[in-house]
Amino acid sequence: MAVLPGSKLGMLGGGQLGRMFVVAARTMGFDVIVLDPDPHSPAGGLASEHLAKEYDDTDALDYLARNCAAITTEFENIPAVTLAYLAKSVPVHPSAKVLHIAQHRKLEKEFFRSLGLGTAEFVAIESDDDIENLGEFPFPAILKTSMLGYDGKGQVVCQSRDDLAAAFEQVGRKPCVLEQRIDLACEVSVVLGRSEQGEVTCFPIAENSHAGGILDVTVVPASISNKLAAQVIDAATRIADGLDYCGVLAVEFFVSTDDEVLVNEMAPRPHNSGHYTLDACFTSQFEQQVRMVSGLPAGSCELHTPVAMWNLLGDIWPDGDAPDWEALLELEQAKLHLYGKTEARPGRKMGHVNCLGKTLAEAIELLEKVRQALL
Ligand SMILES: Nc1ncnc2c1ncn2[C@@H]1O[C@H](COP(=O)(O)OP(=O)(O)O)[C@@H](O)[C@H]1O
Ligand SMILES: [Mg+2]
Repeated sequence: MAVLPGSKLGMLGGGQLGRMFVVAARTMGFDVIVLDPDPHSPAGGLASEHLAKEYDDTDALDYLARNCAAITTEFENIPAVTLAYLAKSVPVHPSAKVLHIAQHRKLEKEFFRSLGLGTAEFVAIESDDDIENLGEFPFPAILKTSMLGYDGKGQVVCQSRDDLAAAFEQVGRKPCVLEQRIDLACEVSVVLGRSEQGEVTCFPIAENSHAGGILDVTVVPASISNKLAAQVIDAATRIADGLDYCGVLAVEFFVSTDDEVLVNEMAPRPHNSGHYTLDACFTSQFEQQVRMVSGLPAGSCELHTPVAMWNLLGDIWPDGDAPDWEALLELEQAKLHLYGKTEARPGRKMGHVNCLGKTLAEAIELLEKVRQALL
C-alpha cells in the first residue's frame, strides 16, 4: 500500500543528499525524521526531526521504526545490522542485500559481470600473495580500496606491476581491487527510479567530467551516439532488475576510446551527477526517491532544459571566505544550491550550480560565466 503525504519517512544519513530528499519530501507534505550522529548535519536542520544518534543506537532505531511509514538512505555505508533491524518492522528501501553489494567494489564488479555486463579488467588484491601470484594483467592500472572509497580517495595509479607493493602499502594494505585503466572517450551516468513492482524510469544520461577524482561538471544531454545510449540504459536497467531494486539508483559508466561501454560503479541512492534534475527535469531525483520508497507512481523524468551542473567545492572558499554570491546571482539562469555546511575544506562538496540554457552550448557558456564570477 502506498505511503501518502502526511506520513513520516525516515532518512538514514544527514548529508546533502539527505537534505535534498528532505526538501522534496516536505514540499510534498511528508514529514522526515533524519538519523545522523552529526548535530550539524546538512539534512538535520531541515528535517521535521533530527535524531543525532549513532546508526546502531537501538533506542533511535526503535523510534524510527515506530514513527516512520517507510525508511530510506542517502549513503551506502549504513551498517547492515541497522537495516536488518529496521526491516523487521518497517519497509526499508533499498534493501540490506543491495547495500552489502554496493559497499564493496569487488562484489559490485562481480555482480555486474554475472549479468554479462562489461567492466574494466579487475582482480582482487588482498594480500602480498595476491601481488606475488598476479598473472597477466593489463597495465597501467589503478589499485582501489574495496570499501569506503569515494571522490577518488583510496586509489593509486600503478604504471606496472613493480608499483603494486608500494601502492598496497600506501592504501594501508586494505582489501583492494586492481583495475585496468581505461582510455576514456567520456564518462556518463544514469540515475533511475525503480518501484517495488519493478517499473523502471530513467533520467536522461548525464555526461560527467572529473577533476582530481571528484565530479566537476555534468552536462545533459550527453553527446554519445544513440547506439551507445541504448547500451547504457539497457545495462542500468538490467542492474536495477538484477538487484530487484526499489528506490533511486545511479550507475556510472566509462565509454572507452574504442566505443566500448563499461560499467564503473553504482550508488544505491541519488547521485551528484543527478543534481541537474533539480532544475532541468519535470521531476528531481529526490522527488523520485520519495515516490519510489513510498510506493507512489513515478514522476516524469523528461528534460525540459539543457543544463550544465558545476560542483562547488570548498576550494573556492579561500581562507574560509564565501565566494561572491551576488555576482553569481546576477546570472539569472544560474540556479544556486548550497548544502548549509559551515566549514569549507578543499575537496568538500559545499553546493552546486545548475546552469540552464536554450541549447547546451548556451548552458555551458553560462557555466563559464559562473566560474568567472566565483573564482
Ligand atoms: N579504470 C579506470 N580507468 C580510467 N579512469 C578511471 C578508472 N577508475 C577511475 N577512474 C577515474 O576516477 C574517477 C573516480 O573513480 P571511481 O572508481 O568512480 O571511484 P569513486 O568511488 O571515488 O567515485 C572516475 O570517475 C574516473 O574519472
Ligand atoms: Mg565514481
